[in-house]
Amino acid sequence: MASVVSQAEGIAVGPTKLLINNKWVSSKSGKTFPTLNPATGEEICRIAEADSADVDEAVKAARRAFDEGPWHKMNPSERGRLMNRLADLMEKHADELARLEALDNGKPYAVARAADLPLSIACYRYYAGWADKVHGKTIPVNGNYFCYTRHEPVGVVGQIIPWNFPLLMQAWKLGPALSTGNTVILKPAEQTPLTALRVGELALEAGYPEGVLNILPGYGPTAGAALARHWDVDKVAFTGSTEVGKLIMEAAAQSNLKRVTLELGGKSPNIVFADAGMEETIEGCHFALFFNQGQCCCAGSRLFVEEKIYDEFVERSAARARRRTVGDPFDPKTEQGPQVDQDQFDKVMGYIESGKKQGAKLVAGGARVGERGYFIQPTVFADVRDEMKIAQEEIFGPVMSIIKFKSVDEVVQRANKTMYGLAAAVWTRDITNALGVANSVRAGTVWVNCYDVFDAAAPFGGFKQSGIGRELGEYGLQNYTEIKTVTVKL
Ligand code: NAI
Ligand code: MG
Repeated sequence: MASVVSQAEGIAVGPTKLLINNKWVSSKSGKTFPTLNPATGEEICRIAEADSADVDEAVKAARRAFDEGPWHKMNPSERGRLMNRLADLMEKHADELARLEALDNGKPYAVARAADLPLSIACYRYYAGWADKVHGKTIPVNGNYFCYTRHEPVGVVGQIIPWNFPLLMQAWKLGPALSTGNTVILKPAEQTPLTALRVGELALEAGYPEGVLNILPGYGPTAGAALARHWDVDKVAFTGSTEVGKLIMEAAAQSNLKRVTLELGGKSPNIVFADAGMEETIEGCHFALFFNQGQCCCAGSRLFVEEKIYDEFVERSAARARRRTVGDPFDPKTEQGPQVDQDQFDKVMGYIESGKKQGAKLVAGGARVGERGYFIQPTVFADVRDEMKIAQEEIFGPVMSIIKFKSVDEVVQRANKTMYGLAAAVWTRDITNALGVANSVRAGTVWVNCYDVFDAAAPFGGFKQSGIGRELGEYGLQNYTEIKTVTVKL
């Protein structure tokens, strides 16, 4: 890989201010922060930096919109129509949004265009469809009463999202929240604010009323923490590290007991049995780990391979990793772009060092690519043991750890020996074995003979310290409604 020069120049950047009450405003402090191009490390532009005073302002607007604005009186079908209009506009601007995503995040443009955009748009459409289909029950209580439930919006919702899938995480959050009639303050990750703001602009064009959707770029410990501890925010939804997830819960507990949903880290077991089809399993496991530069909460980062095929599997996985093309996100041949920032780059390189030091066998990669930008070679470790750091902690980068196992019972037990429980996969032609493992693994999602298959209709979220609550699907709506019981004497 010779050059990692970005062809990004000339991309229109879109709004760079805070969106509060349908107006673009500077932060009260006047502060701004830079967002960088991960392919070069250079500044793209500066963005207004929200802090607690701006959060206050946005919460007031969101509260007004919830209590008094046209939003609370709007027909549910009209909320659905607005969301479909936003989806239409995103579709119209899909090329532009994908370019902006690639520029700010470093993911290949072709991947953003083929995956992030259609998945995000589908998520808005899916939840648009739910807007007039969320309803309660009538309940046959004892006595002469008429009893029914209503599913009402929770109120003002704070949403804090990460940088690995900026558009998609925004869609997963806004979809169910807006469809059920909440008002929102969304804080994008400081590394990737650009597409969130552009979607805010499209929401204005779609015609969302004042105060319904507020977007506040800024840092976690300032703007993010202000949302989590705010006394007039009814719910906070967060995706990111387990460490910060705990802070969010603490802040909620210490303020107004706002509702909390969390989608956190993972160390997902990916289990390959000897009877799996070799060719497609190698490719599937490669994708499971290296997709999105390895920056996936559900990455198949503990790759358990049955002893009988272990050596061949390692050799072929290493060869596949060496063939992975790393480079300019705007080159159509690129499979892997840079890591998102210097911190993530350093963290991943640190894990590579740790793997070497603890005696894992480096069979591919292991070094940076080029001299600028945050590019890392697709890296594969073999002979990884359960107790090594690279087998226990979330690396969030292009580093595959291949671990040997002998029997089903043993591998299930080892797979479950983790504080996480986000996802898992099993590769085998034996359906009984596949379903047995799927039932035994403690994880929110299990894929069989596939990986990273997402659909807006299928719920996603974690067991154990991988999170609380489920996003997507009908289950995802539960996070955004309160159940009210009404009992009438007859
Ligand atoms: P992070 O958890 O610090 O950041 C995620 C979001 O939370 C960002 O919007 C950030 O501004 C915000 N945030 C940070 N501190 C906060 C606080 N005290 N209060 C409220 N909001 C706060 O994750 P970071 O530092 O970007 O990455 C660290 C590691 O976290 C990664 O290496 C990876 O292991 C994991 N991670 C997991 C993700 C997932 O999808 N589950 C996404 C991003 C990171
Ligand atoms: Mg952080």
